Amino acid sequence: PYRVAVFASGSGSNFQALLDASRAGNLGAQISLLVCDKPQARVVERARAAGVPIFVFTPKEYESREAYERLILAELEKAKIDLVVLAGYMRLITSVLVEPYAGRMINIHPSLLPSFPGKDAAGQAIQHGVRVSGATVHFVDGGMDTGPIIAQRAVEVMAEDTAIELQARIQDTERLLYPEVVSWFAAGRVKLEGRKVVLFNNEH
Ligand code: GAR
Repeated sequence: PYRVAVFASGSGSNFQALLDASRAGNLGAQISLLVCDKPQARVVERARAAGVPIFVFTPKEYESREAYERLILAELEKAKIDLVVLAGYMRLITSVLVEPYAGRMINIHPSLLPSFPGKDAAGQAIQHGVRVSGATVHFVDGGMDTGPIIAQRAVEVMAEDTAIELQARIQDTERLLYPEVVSWFAAGRVKLEGRKVVLFNNEH
């Protein structure tokens, strides 16, 4: 099968959506590994419950980002991972991982990039008073929420929205969008040519 590793730091609702899509036969891919930098994160429980192999580590036990990323790289290679999917993994990634997985590492972010990168994207959108925000899936290039854009979905901002309410509606959209995009990869329908994203017979 086409083998996917998910990197996550938090609750793992995107991880769960990908796993559910895989089990339902809608992904064309297997969730073969969870990589997590927070031993206490809820996503670790989800993976354990589902029998997904887990590589969990504590960043401060390593002298550099590169040091733990070399261990992650070894795990990815051992598990023969085809695609790395960042889903709420709240750390920058260095060339140790970006280079070997060029064109095969993607992230999801809760805004219409390039607006509102980084933390609390929904809060930033409310602060700014935008009427439309959304979710973006993009290739990872080592910056914070930068890299060529693959797909975006808009989410309307309501007059009375709090950051929490907006974030929840964006996450509803993410849980639909991310499995769809991963299924495009599994079907060989996405390619990165330089900085240009090429989609083959997609409606989006
Ligand atoms: C998601 O909304 C994801 O877009 C965001 O973290 C959340 C993780 O939720 N990522 C970023 O903000 C990246 N800068 P989850 O753990 O429930 O999937």
